[in-house]
Amino acid sequence: MPTPHNAAKPGEIAETVLMPGDPLRARFIAETYLESAREYNSVRGMLGYTGLYKGRRVSVQGGGMGIPSMGIYAWELFAFYDVETIIRVGTAGGLSDGVAMGDVILALSASTDSNFQSGMGLRGHAAPSADFGLLERAASAARGLGFGFKAGHVLSTDVFYSAPGAYDSWRAIGALAVEMETTGLYLTAAKAGKKAVAILTVSDHLYAGGSAPPEERERGYTRMMEIALETAVNEGSD
Ligand code: HPA
Repeated sequence: MPTPHNAAKPGEIAETVLMPGDPLRARFIAETYLESAREYNSVRGMLGYTGLYKGRRVSVQGGGMGIPSMGIYAWELFAFYDVETIIRVGTAGGLSDGVAMGDVILALSASTDSNFQSGMGLRGHAAPSADFGLLERAASAARGLGFGFKAGHVLSTDVFYSAPGAYDSWRAIGALAVEMETTGLYLTAAKAGKKAVAILTVSDHLYAGGSAPPEERERGYTRMMEIALETAVNEGSD
C-alpha cells in the first residue's frame, strides 16, 4: 500500500531489502549489481528499486540519515509491504583501536543515546540486536567472498556534530564504531517481528586520525555491498 513516503504499489518491493542511507547509493547498487532493476519510489528523492541478483528478487531502498528516518522507512517496509528482511549498508566512524578505515563491521547490537526506545513505549533499556541467523549468513557470505570483517557492538547516536569526548565512554566499553541508524532498524524489526542486520564500512576514525585513500574507502563500500547482496541471495533458506 503506498504510504506518504513510499509510492510503491503492493508487490513491487521484494521480501529482502538492502537499505543504504544515501538514495544515490541505492541507485548505484541497483545499476551496478541488479538485473532488470525498476525504480518504484522517488518520493522525497528517497529512491527505491527492485531487480534481480543472481536470479533472486531483491530491493534497494534509501533510508536517509538518523534514527527517525530509518524508523519511518523500515516500519513502512515491514508493516505495509510484507518485507521480511532489511539489511542496512552504511558508513560509521571508528571508535575502537580494533577497527581501521575501510573495515567492514557486522553490528551484533546497537546501543544508543537516542530517546527512540521510550518513544516506542518501552520501559527500561532495550538491547537492540541483529537477527542471529541473518548475521550468521552475512558472516559466511563475507568469508565466502574472502573479505575480512569485525563483528561487535556499535553506537547509534543522534548527534553527528557531537561534543568533544562524547564517545569516550562508549569506546571504553568496546563499541567498535558510531553511526546514526542501526538501533532504530533493530528496534523496528523487533517490533514488527521481522529480521534485520547492519553491515557497516568504517568511513572515518574518530580516534586514530589520518584518512584512508579514497580508493580504499570505495573498496570497503563495495565489499559491504557484495556481502549484503550475497546475504540476500541466501535469505529465506532457513
Ligand atoms: N558519527 C556519526 N555517524 C557517522 C560518522 C560519525 O563520525 N561517520 C559515519 N557515520
